[in-house]
Amino acid sequence: MAAVTRTPLIAGNWKMNLDHLQAIAFVQKLAWSLQDAKHDFDAVEVAVFPPFTDLRSVQTLVAADKLPLAYGAQDVSSQDSGAFTGEISGAFLSQLECRYAIIGHSERRSLHGETDEIVNSKTVAALKHGLVPVICVGETAEDLEKHGSAAVPVSQLRAALEAVSSDADIVVAYEPVWAIGSGKAATPDQAEQVAAELRKVIAESLGEDAAARTRILYGGSVKAANIAGFMREPNVDGALVGGASLDVTEFSNIVRYQKHVGV
Ligand code: 13P
Repeated sequence: MAAVTRTPLIAGNWKMNLDHLQAIAFVQKLAWSLQDAKHDFDAVEVAVFPPFTDLRSVQTLVAADKLPLAYGAQDVSSQDSGAFTGEISGAFLSQLECRYAIIGHSERRSLHGETDEIVNSKTVAALKHGLVPVICVGETAEDLEKHGSAAVPVSQLRAALEAVSSDADIVVAYEPVWAIGSGKAATPDQAEQVAAELRKVIAESLGEDAAARTRILYGGSVKAANIAGFMREPNVDGALVGGASLDVTEFSNIVRYQKHVGV
C-alpha cells in the first residue's frame, strides 16, 4: 500500500447534548484552550458534531472569529428535499459549511432502525452534497461473541461503500457498540486489528489510493488517559469521542495527545 501521511482527526460527537447557546460558549472555550496551548491544527484536525439546531450558531462563530475548527452534523437525510418531515437535507448542511456528516452511528442503527441500505443511501447523499461522510461501523457484544470483532464492521462498511466512487473523500469510524459509553474501551490492539481489516475493505471497494488516504477513527470510551495507545497504531488515524468531548479540558487533552503523553 502506498505510503501516505494521513492527518489525524479528533472528532467530538456531542450526541443530544448542548443547546445552541451552550454550543457557542463551548466552541469558544475549546478554540481558546487549544490556541493558548499552541495546538497545531494542521497536524491534528479537530472537529465537533453538535445537534442540528446548533449548527447555524457554530457556523457564525467559526466564520466570525476564523476559528480553525471543523464541524459537522450527526446525521443526514438520504433525500434532497420534499415531503420528509423531520429530515435534514445534505444541501442544507453544506449551506451551513459543515465539512462532515456522521452516518450510521450505532445509536441510529439500533434506536432508529437504520439498515446497511439506509447507511449506504445516506453516504451517497452526503457525498453528492459535498460533505465528507463519517461512516460508523461496529459490532455488538453478541456479534463479538458469535463472529469475532471484524466480521460485522467489515460487512457494514462493504455495504456502506456500494456505488461510492473511488475518488470519494470519506472517513470511517470503528466503534464497537460494547465500548460506547461503557467506560470499557477496546484495547489498541483490538482497534488496530479491525482498522486493518476495514482498510482492506476500502482497498477492495474504492482502490488502493483511497485505502491509503482514508482516515479510520476509533470510538468507544476514548479519554485523555487512553488516546495515546490508539494513536500509536498504524491503522488508527484518530478518534470519535462521545462523553469526553463534552468537557473542554478533557477534549483538549485528547486533541493534544502528542503533547501530554508522547507518541
Ligand atoms: P463514548 O466516547 O461516550 O463512549 O461514545 C462514543 C461514541 O459513540 C462516539 O460517536
